[in-house]
Amino acid sequence: MELPFKTLDDVDVAGKRVLVRVDMNCSVDPDTKEITDDTRIVAILPTLRELEKSKAVLMAHQGRPGSDDFISLEAHTDIIKKLGLNASFVDDIFGENAKNAIRKVAVGELLVLQNVRYFDGELKNAPPEEVAKEPLVQELYPLFDLFVNDAFGAAHRSQASIVGFTTVLPSVAGRLVEKEIRTLTDATATDQHPWTLVLGGAKVEDKVKTLEKLLAAGRVDNALLGGLLGTLFLIAKGLVSEEYSKPIKGFEDALNTAKELLSKYPDIIIIPDDAAVERDGERVECEFPEMSGNPFFDIGPKTTKKYVETIRKSAVVFANGPMGFFEKNAFAKGTSEVLDAIADCEGITVVGGGHLGAMAQKKDFGDRITHISTGGGATINFLTGKKLDLIVALEAAAKRM
Ligand code: 3PG
Repeated sequence: MELPFKTLDDVDVAGKRVLVRVDMNCSVDPDTKEITDDTRIVAILPTLRELEKSKAVLMAHQGRPGSDDFISLEAHTDIIKKLGLNASFVDDIFGENAKNAIRKVAVGELLVLQNVRYFDGELKNAPPEEVAKEPLVQELYPLFDLFVNDAFGAAHRSQASIVGFTTVLPSVAGRLVEKEIRTLTDATATDQHPWTLVLGGAKVEDKVKTLEKLLAAGRVDNALLGGLLGTLFLIAKGLVSEEYSKPIKGFEDALNTAKELLSKYPDIIIIPDDAAVERDGERVECEFPEMSGNPFFDIGPKTTKKYVETIRKSAVVFANGPMGFFEKNAFAKGTSEVLDAIADCEGITVVGGGHLGAMAQKKDFGDRITHISTGGGATINFLTGKKLDLIVALEAAAKRM
């Protein structure tokens, strides 16, 4: 398959100062703030190893402002070091400290910059030429010879660090981006059915919009919903009280979309039948009217059985996002059984996203799932058929090079 952008095969990196955007947005324990899974860091190692002959500087995000996992990249640097690379960390992104540290990086060294989302301008989504005006890009790009984008997980974001540098520096894809695009292109080339989407987790605002696009594309036969996204649809159907909407950002708009989707695709959208709530610190499985305001942390056994049966007889399964608050052991059951069913499914199976991907790796499902993608939102957006922003930007850079 010929790729429409340039890769590490097209450039000589030896001795060059290279800015590398990666996605090492990891699962973080909400209480200890420690990284609980390094899958996304391990996934970028092929690129980092190829850059050992260059002076590499790593840029990445972790979490979003206000979220539990919005932490410094110092912890990520320690993991990179434990994985055998010669890495150091600077607590700055594009100020004088960062610039001085960047100038000093020697061949074979890897400098990790601070969480790029500590800079507000990074959160803006706009066309490449516009985000390229951000000081993040303007201050840093003159220091580099080459930009390598390996942040597949954030490929659907048109943010400065993802698409800005490609307008001003020679830019190529890293090995992970290359691998994800090749594998996902193959996995989506089939026209077999039934085609099942398993969609859960938080980030409801994003996911409901992507679901709308995917359903409109007409490919999905079953959309099994869980996590906060499932809660939204249960509220939209009047099965669960609106008090459960509190953790859902952008709830009103998302609710309207959910109602429209339910009336447009009543046979495709499949929502939970029962719940597992936390009562006195314990998992209690119950029907919706018995939830009594207790936190809704997982799908219940009836739902799990229904989802497992649908998954097992699917020809294609794409899954993103957990079914519940899987970080709490007692509430990992629904997600775990759904994942087991995906591993048992004989069709094409793709599991994506930091959380679900990490669980699939922990279960050692590498050989039983067609592809464990590092992308969550990126992978689901890829399915809509619209080109990912990162890819569009790399294509434009390739034309200029
Ligand atoms: C992800 O985890 O899906 C990526 O790292 C992108 O994160 P975001 O949804 O916060 O942009």
